[in-house]
Amino acid sequence: MKEKLQEIQNKGVKEISSATDLKVLDEIRVKYLGKAGELTQILRGMKDVPPEERRVVGILANSVREKMEIALSEKLAELENAKLLADMEKEKIDITEPSTGIKRGALHPLTRFNNKFIDLCVEMGFTVIQTPEIETDYYNFEALNVPKNHPARDMQDSLYITDSILMRTHTSPAQVHAMETLKPPFKIVCPGRVYRNDDDSSHSPIFNQFEALVIDENVSLKDFMIMVKEMAVRLYGKDVKMRVRPAFFPFTEPSIEIDATCQMCQGKGCSLCKGTGFSEFFGGGIVNPRILEMSGVDSKKYSGFAFGPGIDRSVMVTNKIPNIKYLFRNDMRFLKQMR
Ligand code: DAH
Repeated sequence: MKEKLQEIQNKGVKEISSATDLKVLDEIRVKYLGKAGELTQILRGMKDVPPEERRVVGILANSVREKMEIALSEKLAELENAKLLADMEKEKIDITEPSTGIKRGALHPLTRFNNKFIDLCVEMGFTVIQTPEIETDYYNFEALNVPKNHPARDMQDSLYITDSILMRTHTSPAQVHAMETLKPPFKIVCPGRVYRNDDDSSHSPIFNQFEALVIDENVSLKDFMIMVKEMAVRLYGKDVKMRVRPAFFPFTEPSIEIDATCQMCQGKGCSLCKGTGFSEFFGGGIVNPRILEMSGVDSKKYSGFAFGPGIDRSVMVTNKIPNIKYLFRNDMRFLKQMR
């Protein structure tokens, strides 16, 4: 047994030291130390060795295994190193090859406008909130003074999930969520996607709005106008002109629509503004006291104003985009032009 072990050690170590590649080395490992390897067999057969010899033979067998393992790992390192050097020799980097250039990403034009408007609102002291895109009829309509069968619902036909759950048709439900959860005074703005059953070159079933709500004591239309003017100046520059038209929204009283210098023609008159030099900035007004009361705000102590700009139209005008759908197609040819 001792001779056999000695022989395995001599033979094995010799084979290992003369191995010239990794595959051969592994075959040697399997031959001696694998499941059915020569040394493994001997170690397994230890139980048949007479008890008086077992200790000595055991020590020898383990020492042979250890020597072979050391020889294997040293050879493995040597061969791997040699292979790495050979590969490095082969794979030279050609530094004269022209590069493919660095592809730069960019923000989507809607995201850029969104960020700009959010920054502006935050500078003016607004808190940014987000409310659900899937709404109940109550938040989207009822709580905003648009009861069932109200004609104003016609203009905001939506994508319904059930009779009472729908994709929100505007960001105005954010007003209700804010009034229900925040303690006045507060100023919130809620950017987000809205959905309507509309589809042509300037209307998409998905579009984007901002909702702004200011609740405080003694808030008046004058405060609203001052803030809107400041926003227009910060967005479009100090020469921006504004005009106000009476309007109707069920949630504000009085309601107004504010136009600002047309950004397509800078007020000269073009097809977009139908020669007037103005295009719609946004609609808003003084929050109807009924709405304050329904959402738990004391309308004797507090008043407020709200407004809701759509942003897709502004992005289209400032980037001269002819069809709103381009904004939602993820077409790289279009997006690359918008950088
Ligand atoms: N929610 C309205 C719409 O989608 C826009 C709007 C008008 C929002 C008046 C307001 C507001 O907050 O006071 O057409």
